Amino acid sequence: MEVQKTVLDVKRSQNIIVVNKMNHPANVSNFLKAIFFGKKQGFEKFILDFSNVKSAFPNVCVPLASIITFYKQEGIDLIINKMPEYLTRSYIESPLKVRDHHSELSRSALDIVWQFCNSDDVNLLVDSFIDDVSKNIECQKGVIEGLTWCLNEVMDNVIQHSKIEAGYVMGQIHKTSKHIAFCISDNGQGIYNSLKESVHAPRYPVDAITLSIEEGVTRDTKIGQGNGMWGLHEIVKSNSGRLVITSGPASYMMLGDEISTFNKLPFLSKENPGAIIDFQVDCEKEISVSDALGGYEPVNLRIENLENDQGILEYKLAEKSSGTGTRQSGERIRNEIINIYNDSKQVIEIDFGGIAVISSSFADELIGKLVIKYGFFNFTQIFRLKNMNQIVQAIVHRSVSQRMAESLKTG
Ligand SMILES: Nc1ncnc2c1ncn2[C@@H]1O[C@H](COP(=O)(O)OP(=O)(O)OP(=O)(O)O)[C@@H](O)[C@H]1O
Ligand SMILES: [Mg+2]
Repeated sequence: MEVQKTVLDVKRSQNIIVVNKMNHPANVSNFLKAIFFGKKQGFEKFILDFSNVKSAFPNVCVPLASIITFYKQEGIDLIINKMPEYLTRSYIESPLKVRDHHSELSRSALDIVWQFCNSDDVNLLVDSFIDDVSKNIECQKGVIEGLTWCLNEVMDNVIQHSKIEAGYVMGQIHKTSKHIAFCISDNGQGIYNSLKESVHAPRYPVDAITLSIEEGVTRDTKIGQGNGMWGLHEIVKSNSGRLVITSGPASYMMLGDEISTFNKLPFLSKENPGAIIDFQVDCEKEISVSDALGGYEPVNLRIENLENDQGILEYKLAEKSSGTGTRQSGERIRNEIINIYNDSKQVIEIDFGGIAVISSSFADELIGKLVIKYGFFNFTQIFRLKNMNQIVQAIVHRSVSQRMAESLKTG
């Protein structure tokens, strides 16, 4: 009989720490323990080996990035010795500072750990995340809006309450399971310390977390209203998503209808228990932000900015930086247009003004596949194609006919 060897997710021998898995919050606890016991043995320098990691999720990348930054500031050397190329590009060793990396941010914000310090950083990050999400995956009504709301609230909390200069964030799209995962963390005072002097006076760290998700609970009514964490919890719950809030030794986990709490987890330090907010939403389940937030309807600027005075949404292709030459660009623009329609159910005018020529693959990916998705009749009800010159018309005509013929063949 073959003996199955279980591989430890994090393994330390002397000052060498081998991280084998980065797909579960438990990996973070085990990493913290490895450093804690290593330090206890007198080590001040650790060699980290990530070479066996096959996939890395935000709920491990972000806390690890926070921890590495924290220990470096404390004078503990953490040297990454081996790391697969894809993980190097997530910058867990030294997260990218938003203000120094605008060009990376405009390319794609996903799969990178970012450091943010103020509301300008938060704004840029949220815009970029939402842009990437809407171009990369089809989302049911309200998902993008819900995500935007949650990201703003959770990152704002770091700035308002953590009492530390920076927070960390990473987002990821899981295309196969159609989920979007985000994690935000900080090494600050933690939820318990922030709330303990307030009228709510939680007795234990785990009570502080369960209080923070209640409506109206805020450390100071002069500053906040206690909507952020409550809204996050309601929105994720309404989507049957997943939410894990960890602060100091305490953690609250909601997986669909199941709720569990933990109160003895390892954490950074008494002064810096930090906060980790880890959430996932299902792109295929509608979210009603207004229902989740008890009737309050946030303004959807993404849609409003496109609307003309006749209530038609104008989508100008010439303004899209990805261009009209490649299949990839066609796919990204198609996703964005489908998401705009899912959220608005309004007529969309696709404006070709200023575009001299497009590639046939772009035309197929954008128009051909939209016609197939909605059916010819519905397509003509939802979309208007405007300002196409003769060449563009001919290319679109040919691509759409081929795509329709193909779809008739394959059924
Ligand atoms: N990152 C954090 N660090 C420390 N404490 C936090 C953090 N996030 C939330 N909290 C605590 O949880 C409380 C509730 O947060 P919540 O976002 O619900 O309300 P608020 O930020 O006070 O008000 P609002 O979100 O309506 O502006 C905060 O007042 C604060 O005490
Ligand atoms: Mg808040």
